[in-house]
Amino acid sequence: MSIQSSIKRKTAPDIRARKNGEPIVMLTSYHAHTAALVDRYCDVILVGDSLGNVMHGFETTVPVTLDMMILQGRAVMRGSQHALVVVDMPFGSYEASKEQAFQSAVRILKETQCGAVKLEGGVRMAETIAFLAGRGVPVMGHIGLTPQSINTLGSFRAQGREESSWQPIEDDARAVSEAGAFSVVVEAVAEPLARKITQSIAIPTIGIGASAACDGQVLVLEDMLGLSARPPKFVRRYGDLGPMIEAAIKGYADDVRARAFPGPEHVYGMKTKS
Ligand code: KIV
Repeated sequence: MSIQSSIKRKTAPDIRARKNGEPIVMLTSYHAHTAALVDRYCDVILVGDSLGNVMHGFETTVPVTLDMMILQGRAVMRGSQHALVVVDMPFGSYEASKEQAFQSAVRILKETQCGAVKLEGGVRMAETIAFLAGRGVPVMGHIGLTPQSINTLGSFRAQGREESSWQPIEDDARAVSEAGAFSVVVEAVAEPLARKITQSIAIPTIGIGASAACDGQVLVLEDMLGLSARPPKFVRRYGDLGPMIEAAIKGYADDVRARAFPGPEHVYGMKTKS
């Protein structure tokens, strides 16, 4: 006999079925506490390898390891109940071969119990995506600006700025879709290209800095909350939590230094000696 949860989580096929439907709402989270909040409003929670920048202060996502992704993936699964949780495959965990990718993806699915993985690359990763998707691993693609390739790209510049450079990105989108991915993140591409891709492939596109022409949107939570030191230019801020958190920390520090910090007598109603 099995004990099954009465709460139904969204699945990769649910998200795939949203093509041309209600826009897909996706945010990143790396922790149980933010996952619980994001879970109330989002269809998909991405445990992005941006955690390397946001949580660990790395300049790029290159140093992020599989163990780091699994640890935070488990926290997000514990904090959420409804959203599909997608965990990023970090740089070096999938590019060497489709077998390496499968082993890494299996570790992520087994150890976090998340519903899908995401990996970067279009045409060059199509064979790997097909291998994973054909073996029970739902894959979200990621094309356009692919931050794990920063050392060959040279900068985090927007992609496909001139029409003459669109073709390889369109080819990437088609390759990911035809390989069996259930959706694809399109990062930092111009609106006309995002629109063209969205209209021409069978799976939902999820844009980040790629205009409202996509089937859904994703942002890094800390960027939209005003907690990131250098958020990308395209990010719209929905909060300014940095100054609020700083004011709270300052208030605490001031109280402690002024010996105005409430002690246990406050809680237990004990009389203090005068
Ligand atoms: O790692 C991440 O947070 C991402 C998003 C920027 C899409 O891949």
